[in-house]
Amino acid sequence: ALSLAAAADLDGCRVVVSAGGTREPIDPVRYIGNRSSGRQGVAVALAAADRGARVDLVAAHVDDGVLAAASIHPRVTITRVGTAKELADAVGSAAAEADVVVMAAAVADYRVAEVSPRKLTKDRSQTKGMTLDLVENDDVLAGLVAARRDGQTIVGFAAETPAEGDTLLDRGRRKAARKRADLLAVNEVGWSVGFESGDNAVTLLDAAGEVVATPSGTKRAVADALWDEIRDLREKTVT
Ligand code: CTP
Ligand code: CA
Repeated sequence: ALSLAAAADLDGCRVVVSAGGTREPIDPVRYIGNRSSGRQGVAVALAAADRGARVDLVAAHVDDGVLAAASIHPRVTITRVGTAKELADAVGSAAAEADVVVMAAAVADYRVAEVSPRKLTKDRSQTKGMTLDLVENDDVLAGLVAARRDGQTIVGFAAETPAEGDTLLDRGRRKAARKRADLLAVNEVGWSVGFESGDNAVTLLDAAGEVVATPSGTKRAVADALWDEIRDLREKTVT
């Protein structure tokens, strides 16, 4: 598909994009986090805005430098969040009015069951080592899919590490079947791939798990390819 950013092919489209990584507090000074920089999600938000969409960008711990272009874009509104719960609330309220929701954020699967009001100290037990009790967070994407309005398009990202005897594509397909989003962007990650860099490569799966595109290049190029697919899908299904 050809990317015609100047054609404003998303004119009037209302979009929600989550980006970055949530942090779940352990105590006032510590958290459980992840390595998502928010660059791919911000690129998705900016690409949509440049193509005419109005974008609510829900940013979880995205550096100011990464947010710079989005923060001065006339069609982007940024909401900063910290935890998975805050992200779920912000995305949930923005999604009520949205035509497209893209969940690019790395949302923590678990939070600490009881956040300590004071900094935990080493002398709290006699035993060496320590255990944190974790409880599962709500799956925001699953909630969006379950509450999907007519004509609303919902897109997920899946960060996968390669595993023995189970290809990235197979795991992506199973996740697509489980998530039932309209599109799932499967993204390889590892100790030295996928994070902090300017480039990315994703496999775009439709709801049936079929590969619809395999864009790679700058995160902006991947974002524009994603919007080409979203636009084509919406033209097919919304008319
Ligand atoms: N996601 C979400 N809410 C969560 C966890 C994930 O909305 N609590 C979204 C992510 O934003 C992403 C998609 O679900 O768009 C897939 O996230 P991923 O972590 O790859 O999948 P999980 O279903 O959490 O499975 P797992 O981490 O076990 O691979
Ligand atoms: Ca997860």
